Amino acid sequence: MTALSQTALLHELEPVVERNLNRHLTMAKEWFPHEYVPWSEGRTFSGPLGGEAWTEADTTLPDVARTALIVNLLTEDNLPAYHHQIATLFGRDGAWGTWVNRWTAEEGRHGIAIRDYLTVTRAVDPVALERARMVHMAHGYSNAHDHHMLNSLAYVSFQELATRISHRNTGKATGDAVCDALLGRIAADENLHMVFYRNLLGAAFEVDPDQTMQAVADVITNFEMPGVGIEGFTRKSVQIALAGIYDLRQHRDEVVVPVLRQWDVFNVSGLGPDGQAAQERIGRHLDDLEKAAARFEEKRDARQARLAAAAR
Ligand SMILES: [Fe+2]
Ligand SMILES: [Fe+2]
Repeated sequence: MTALSQTALLHELEPVVERNLNRHLTMAKEWFPHEYVPWSEGRTFSGPLGGEAWTEADTTLPDVARTALIVNLLTEDNLPAYHHQIATLFGRDGAWGTWVNRWTAEEGRHGIAIRDYLTVTRAVDPVALERARMVHMAHGYSNAHDHHMLNSLAYVSFQELATRISHRNTGKATGDAVCDALLGRIAADENLHMVFYRNLLGAAFEVDPDQTMQAVADVITNFEMPGVGIEGFTRKSVQIALAGIYDLRQHRDEVVVPVLRQWDVFNVSGLGPDGQAAQERIGRHLDDLEKAAARFEEKRDARQARLAAAAR
């Protein structure tokens, strides 16, 4: 079978987009960012209004939770770049266009809510945060799959779920009930986004199994979180992984495996040689991820034992 063109794929998937858009609209619950922010705790900052400058002593949130909040917020902040990317790929017409705008509006709420929370509670240095936002957004965003619709669909299927888990575990790591409730609310949105994209890619497996399998194999073997361009991302993500907010074990067992299982990738029929090769590549990658996750867990356990011994 010859591979369908990008345009043909968009056309073939349009009715699936429409169905899932309607499903999304019935499932999504309206919510308000301002209701999750403890405004009465706020104080004017130094600057033109002559309030008090931020100091480290303003917050009791654990360090790693604050790091994760910053990474999650900066990731949400880059929304214009993501919007540009999916609007270019999916177009602005019909159900595709409606989805692009709706999704963008929902994601916009996430950045608003987290920033308001962090600013009012003085959880992070607002000057450093603003500077980091400028650097991160000026850097822009593009993923490895810019021009391939199926790769992008596969990428967001995993990425939305990864983001859900990261928000949820960040909320727990704060030990703050308000922040936990806010991030839990955001995580629920991310889950619906994941379901939308996952259903779409599931339909693509029926339309063009070979191309879809290759897209999935390419995406999982090159997966990077969208925050990868954030200054100091490697150091921050190690900290986040060591705290169990988002690590390789969760990436494999709670993100990659469940999504692949939904698509039933190892039982997809009608594959040609390229699709079969991609399917095998996926299998090998899961084995590699398993080894890497086990290695990471061993190292983390050893590190914790060392720290515990030093503390005695
Ligand atoms: Fe989001
Ligand atoms: Fe999302």
